[in-house]
Order: sequence, then structure tokens, then C-alpha cells
Amino acid sequence: MKIISFEGIEGVGKSTQIDLLHDYLLNAGKSVKKFREPGSTIPSEKIRNILLDANLTLTSQTELLLMYASRSELVANEILSNQHDFILLDRYFDASMAYQGYGRNLNKDFINSLKTFINAPDPDLTILLDIDPIKGFERKSGDSMDRIESSGLKFFNDVRNGYLELANQYPRIKCIDAEKDANTISLEIINLVESL
Ligand code: TMP
Repeated sequence: MKIISFEGIEGVGKSTQIDLLHDYLLNAGKSVKKFREPGSTIPSEKIRNILLDANLTLTSQTELLLMYASRSELVANEILSNQHDFILLDRYFDASMAYQGYGRNLNKDFINSLKTFINAPDPDLTILLDIDPIKGFERKSGDSMDRIESSGLKFFNDVRNGYLELANQYPRIKCIDAEKDANTISLEIINLVESL
């Protein structure tokens, strides 16, 4: 079983790329399961609703712990026992480091300890789709903003720079320019997956 996670700020085109890779792998005869974070189990989807509710105010600490509560359910009930050839994750623990560590300035060692605490396995490959936050939000203009999306430009610049630092730190994270056209990006991703 190979775990491939997709990361990046809002508007980078993660869902499109996950769907394209999903179809490619199915056509190649592989079994594939997709999950999104936060979410994808019944309790995790309920936690997601709290996390994204624009009418709620949450402390950064609560935000981090709820992200990990959701992740703990997903890891324990879906990931660790999974028998598929590939798991595709629309965000995973790197998102907590980028958003809550770099974006909200929470303690990074503590965030890493949560990953160990819930036994979250490392992905075999992480695709980081990178874009300037202003351009990312332009692509999403028209959608109403959830609680996290309403965090402002400085927050999203910090998150983006956090992701880029993580990509420098961990060779499993491959950074792709999200401004290229979707088919070019998809071919790059397929090449990375083939080389696993
Ligand atoms: P999305 O699934 O629509 O992208 O929304 C998820 C939001 O949650 C997005 O703004 C990123 C944020 N997020 C975190 O802040 N930390 C995390 O660990 C994860 C998984 C997501």
C-alpha cells in the first residue's frame, strides 16, 4: 500500500489533480481509495463542520487539537488497516504543520509529537501544489469563505512559506508550480508516482 498526500493552500487545484490521478491509477488496474482531511469518517466529518463553521471562534490550540482528533479517527479506522494499492489524501499531517505551526505559530515540536501520538504513518509521496495566495483566492472567487479561509493574506503567505520550508526539509515532498495547466501538472504527478 502506498500513501500519497496532496497539499497546498486554497485554490491550488488539489481536487482536480487527485481526481486525475485517481482515474489514471484505476485505468492502470490499481485499487485506490480517496480521503479528505479534516473528514472522511463519520466523527471526522462532524469535527470538520465545527472547524470550518464561519460563525464559530476557536482558539488556535482548539483548531490544532480538532484537526488531530479528526486525523486520529481516520488513521485508526481507515489508513492503518487499508488494503488498497494506493491511498490518496486530500491534505494530511503536513497541513497541520503548515496551517497551525507556521500559520498560527503554534509549537512545532508539540505538533510533531501529536503525529507520533496518533501513530500516523508517513506518506510515500507528498505532492505540494504551490501558488501565490492572491492567485489561489482569485481562482476561488465566488465561493463563500469558511472560518479558516477568512484568516487573511498574511496567514496564507505564512502557510505557503511553511509548506515550502517543509518541502526543503523532507525529500518525500515534491513541489509543483500550480500555475501550470492541469494536464501538464497531472503528467508530472504521474511520473512521480510511477517512480515510487
Ligand atoms: P478544504 O478541505 O476545503 O481544503 O478545507 C480544509 C481547511 O482546513 C483548509 O483551510 C486547510 C485547513 N486545515 C488545517 O488548517 N490544518 C489541517 O491539519 C488540515 C488537514 C486542514
